[in-house]
Amino acid sequence: MWVALTGTPGTGKSSVSTRLQKQGYTIVRLHQLARENNCIDGIDKKRNSQLIDVDKLNKSIKKNFANDALVFFEGHVGHLLKTMDKVVILRCHPKELKKRLTKKKWSTKKIKENVDAETIDVILCEAIEQHPQKNVFEIDTTNKTMQEVATIIIKIAKKNFQPTKTYTIGQIDWSEEIFKEYPT
Ligand SMILES: Nc1ncnc2c1ncn2[C@@H]1O[C@H](COP(=O)(O)OP(=O)(O)OP(=O)(O)O)[C@@H](O)[C@H]1O
Ligand SMILES: [Mg+2]
Repeated sequence: MWVALTGTPGTGKSSVSTRLQKQGYTIVRLHQLARENNCIDGIDKKRNSQLIDVDKLNKSIKKNFANDALVFFEGHVGHLLKTMDKVVILRCHPKELKKRLTKKKWSTKKIKENVDAETIDVILCEAIEQHPQKNVFEIDTTNKTMQEVATIIIKIAKKNFQPTKTYTIGQIDWSEEIFKEYPT
């Protein structure tokens, strides 16, 4: 089973993946995989980030991981990949996300762009364009440690990613934060 571990930057994908890896799970870092398999399509100069060719990346996953049982694919493009059987989205309250991204020493503009995206559910919307809702899970990481988040993912994995009430999509709504942060 191929599982995308996705989320807005700062929601904890990499940190949680490292914990899953330590507990014996297979983790593939998508940006690294894209680089190694020539799936980079250019540079977004405005954002100084690499553009990933999603079709090429899907093909490369099919070629390289055909025999693997459970693999977590970590990175914020994971939910765009049709090859994924399941999608786990890490979420974080905008206020806390801002703190986490500030700690990363990102520019004010980049922080705002990502906090806004988290507030209006950009990744969730993109995910449900590509995947049936029953295959998509959301975990609110705001008041959880990275280990707690990893433990939740393991619990979901052990139940073979059957839909579970607690992590069913649509329960998180931070849209009001837009007005708090940016009053008109
Ligand atoms: N559950 C958590 N509680 C507190 N801090 C966290 C949590 N998860 C991550 N962090 C912190 O937030 C920051 C961002 O985490 P991380 O780099 O894992 O996010 P990411 O989703 O991989 O981001 P990116 O998309 O930029 O790679 C780090 O400083 C990390 O220590
Ligand atoms: Mg990361």
